[in-house]
Amino acid sequence: MCGIFAYTGESRESGRLIVNGLRSLEYRGYDSWGVALKKNNGQIYLKKAVGKIGQAILPDTNSSIGFGHTRWATHGGVTEKNSHPHHDCQKKIFVVHNGIVENFAHIKNVLSKSGHHFISDTDTEIIAHLIEQKLKKQKSRSQAVLKTFNQITGMNALIVFFPDYEEFYAIKNGSPIVFGKNKKEKIIASDASAIIPYTKKVYFLEDNELLIVTGKEEKLIDKQNKNGTIRYLNLSYDKQDVEVGSYPNFMFKEISEQPKVLRDIINTQRGNLGKTSQIIRKARGSYLIGCGTAYYAAISGSYLFAKIAKRHIDATIGSEFGYLTDFLTEKSLVIALSQSGETIDTISGIKKAREKKAKIMAITNVLGSTLYRISDYRILLQAGPEKCVLATKSFTAKIAVLYLLSHCLNGSYDQGVNQIKKAIGETERLIKSTQIKELANRLKNSQHIYVLGRGVSYPTALESALKIKEVSYIHAEGFASGELKHGVIALIKKGTPVIVYNPTDETYKDTLSSAYEMKARGAYIIGIAEKNSPVFDEFIQVNDCQEAVIIPNVVVAQLLGYYLAVSKGYDPDKPRNLAKSVTVK
Ligand code: F6R
Repeated sequence: MCGIFAYTGESRESGRLIVNGLRSLEYRGYDSWGVALKKNNGQIYLKKAVGKIGQAILPDTNSSIGFGHTRWATHGGVTEKNSHPHHDCQKKIFVVHNGIVENFAHIKNVLSKSGHHFISDTDTEIIAHLIEQKLKKQKSRSQAVLKTFNQITGMNALIVFFPDYEEFYAIKNGSPIVFGKNKKEKIIASDASAIIPYTKKVYFLEDNELLIVTGKEEKLIDKQNKNGTIRYLNLSYDKQDVEVGSYPNFMFKEISEQPKVLRDIINTQRGNLGKTSQIIRKARGSYLIGCGTAYYAAISGSYLFAKIAKRHIDATIGSEFGYLTDFLTEKSLVIALSQSGETIDTISGIKKAREKKAKIMAITNVLGSTLYRISDYRILLQAGPEKCVLATKSFTAKIAVLYLLSHCLNGSYDQGVNQIKKAIGETERLIKSTQIKELANRLKNSQHIYVLGRGVSYPTALESALKIKEVSYIHAEGFASGELKHGVIALIKKGTPVIVYNPTDETYKDTLSSAYEMKARGAYIIGIAEKNSPVFDEFIQVNDCQEAVIIPNVVVAQLLGYYLAVSKGYDPDKPRNLAKSVTVK
C-alpha cells in the first residue's frame, strides 16, 4: 500500500521519470500523490494533488534528483496537505512513507512542545520533524535517521531526502523497498516492477538496514550498525511484462496471460515440485494460509490434497492464523500463499508460526519479497508482474501448483499435467468467446449475484463472488450449495441471478438439485458445466478436466467481473478503496 519512487541520475527530467514511476506503482494506492525535486538551480519543487496521477505532467523543472509517493490513506483524510512528501520546519528534510507510525500521537505532542509546527494530519510528518530534532544534537544524518526509525513503532518503510546533500536514506521493517542502478541512474522504489525499465539487477532491502544513496555512491548500514554488502538479484521478467501493451487494461492482459503462465508451470516446475512435495510428505501437520483470493486458493488446496493425495491440510485466513498457532510444533509445516509476498496479515501469521519453530513454505509470485526471504522452502509462481489490483493469473497459477503438488504426492504427476493441459484449452476458448460479455450486459443492473458450488467448486464459488463484487460493485456472495437450505435460499426471488458450478464429478447430482430448488423460487440459473440441463437459463460450457476444472471455472468469473465493470464504465485495474499489496493491518 502506497508507492514510493526515488530517482537520481543524469536525466534533467527527474520529475517526468518520477511521475512515470509513480504511475506504474498506482496499483499500490491512488488516493493522492506528490513529488519533491531539487532543481538544478538549487530550488525545491514540491507538488501535491488529490486523485489518480492519470496523465499529469509536471512543468519543466530541470532536475536530476527527487522522489514521489502515491498514497493509500491511513492517517488523515485524502487531502492535498496530507499527501506525501512531508517535510520538517525548515524544508530541509523530506519524507515519503508506507506504513503506520503507531506512536505518532505521542511523538507529535512532544515535538509540538519543542516548537515544531505541523501542517498535515498524518503520522508521516512527525518523521521529518523527529529527524530535524535529532540533528540539533548530533551531526550524523545516518544516525539521526536510524535513531528516528528505532523510535517509531509499527511496520514502516520510508525514504528520507536531504536535498542540500542530494542524499536519500531508505529504511524499512515491513513493506518492501527495492534498489536498482544502471550506469547513469539510481532508483529506489516500493516494487521492482517500477525499476525494471532501468535495470534487472536489484537489491531488496532487509528489515532495519539503512541504504544511503547519492549520485556518487550507495552504502548499506546493516542491522548491527556496520557496513553491509549490497547483494543484487536478477529479475526474471522484462520491461514489456510491466506494460499494458496492446491490451485495453492490465486486468484483461493478465486474464489473457493465464494459458502461458500455466504452460510455464508445467514445463519448468516439475523438479522443484517433486522435491517440495517430499517436505509436505514428511511434515507432521501442515496448514495452508493466505488472504482474500490467496485464501480461496488455500481452501482449494485443502480439497485437492484431501482428494488426490489423501492428506489432511487445513486452510486458514492469514489474519486468523496467529490465533491458531498454539498447537504448532517444530514438525509442523505452514504453506503460505501470497502473490505479493508482502501481505502483512499473512506475514504476521508466519512470524507467529516461526516462534513455534514450525517450518515455512512460500508459494509466491515475487522473488525477494518478505515472504520469499523468511521462508525455509520456496515455490515461485513466475506468473510475471500482476499489476491489476485484482488477483487473476496468480490465483490460477497457485491452483496449478497445488494441484501438481497433490499429484506428486499421489505419484500421478503426468496425469495432473494432462488435466492442466485440458484446463488451458478450456481457458483459451473462454477468453475468445463473446458469450460472457453478452451475459455481463444482461446482468449489469443486477443488485445481487449468488454463486454456488460443492466440493472443489465451493472455494471456486467464493473466489468467483469476490471477483465479481470487487470490480463491478455488484453484491455477490458465494456459498456451498449444501448450505442453501440453511439460510441463503431466503434471499432468492424472481429473477435473482445464481451462478451454479456443476462439473461432472461426485457433486453433480446434488448441485443440480440445488439449482432446481432455486429455480422453483424464481432464480435465473447460470449453469457452468460440461453438460447442459433444462434447469439452466444460461449455459456456459466448461469441459471436464477433473479437479483442474477450478481453473477455467474461475476464469469464467474473472471474465464476468471484468465485463460487468467495463459495461458499467468502471476502471477494472483500480477498484475503489482497494490497493494491491496490503502491507498495513
Ligand atoms: C483479490 C485480491 C486480494 C489478494 C489478497 C492477498 O482480487 O487481489 O484478495 O488476493 O490481498 O494478496 P497476496 O496474494 O499478495 O498476499
